[in-house]
Amino acid sequence: MSATELRTTTYRAAVVRTPGAPDAVEVVEVPLPEPGPGEARVRVAAASVNPVDLTTASGWFHERGLIDQPEHTGIGWDFAGTVAATGPDVDLAVGTRVAGLVTGFDRAVGTHAEYVLVPAVDLALVPDGLGLVEASTVPLNGLAAAQIVDLLGDAPAGGRLLVTGAAGAVGGYVTSLARDRGWHVTGLARTSDEEYVRGLGAEFTTAAEPGWDAVADCAGLQDEGLGLVRDGGRYVGVRPGGEPAAERGISVAAVSVQAEGARLAELLARTATGELPARVHAVVPLDRAADAYRSAGESGVRGRWVLTP
Ligand SMILES: NC(=O)c1ccc[n+]([C@@H]2O[C@H](COP(=O)([O-])OP(=O)(O)OC[C@H]3O[C@@H](n4cnc5c(N)ncnc54)[C@H](OP(=O)(O)O)[C@@H]3O)[C@@H](O)[C@H]2O)c1
Repeated sequence: MSATELRTTTYRAAVVRTPGAPDAVEVVEVPLPEPGPGEARVRVAAASVNPVDLTTASGWFHERGLIDQPEHTGIGWDFAGTVAATGPDVDLAVGTRVAGLVTGFDRAVGTHAEYVLVPAVDLALVPDGLGLVEASTVPLNGLAAAQIVDLLGDAPAGGRLLVTGAAGAVGGYVTSLARDRGWHVTGLARTSDEEYVRGLGAEFTTAAEPGWDAVADCAGLQDEGLGLVRDGGRYVGVRPGGEPAAERGISVAAVSVQAEGARLAELLARTATGELPARVHAVVPLDRAADAYRSAGESGVRGRWVLTP
């Protein structure tokens, strides 16, 4: 622990005090927590802004009674950084480069902050050769994609999978990872995304006809996405609790992403070799979090806005 660490009793965190307001995101000082058994405190070097963070800041979860925070709501799920302190039973040296995921939206602080306290088992080592900014774009969407591919399961012989939103973060990973389970993948994306999607090793379309063995609906097309699945096929969405109603013998599921440290390590290793994408749109300091939130939700943004505390 450095002298600076020893003196620190508070840290800066981006939070939402008044959800939905134009400047909903503000930076406040919060008390620095000490890691308990099995926990690590990570000095965040980079944290990406994802759609769920924009939804939190917009007040969508608050309006539905899903967030109950007396003072402010934390934002940010993804992070990469270095281990700053550990609790009992944690075998991680201070300074180790790690990345991880904090799930759930009903919390006072998130990863858009100078520090994050997490179970050490949820952390993955960031391989040499992969920058922390790039690594911070992997956990939420890489793990969600891997878990979507779990839900799709093994492809039937010659199984054809359509990935909607294939040029997005989740869709890009699903497009790459589904081959592991034998799927022949076609990505549905915008005209300007063709080169990127084909570069992931998939076929490409801007307008899919129905009849797919499975659809991974990473664009959240919902009923329209379900309508593209053949009778008796599989549909996997990204809105747990908001899945389209099953029809025509189609199995319907939706991912609810979970932290998985060991699996994240594999995804980071495959990102370090260039096999998986790590797209960064812009890198801005934490103090400009509100700017990043205003811009990240615009249609056509490819790659993540990343905050550096
Ligand atoms: N349940 C979970 O555990 C979980 C975990 C992670 C993410 N998610 C959700 O998954 C969704 C995707 O997240 P993400 O980070 O991948 O978002 P993203 O990076 O913004 O990707 C979404 C992509 O879908 C494209 N798209 C939307 N409508 C389309 C259409 N009709 N045709 C072709 N492309 C279309 C978008 O293109 P344009 O930008 O051009 O519109 C964009 O490229 C979000 O709703 C997110 O909240 C859920």
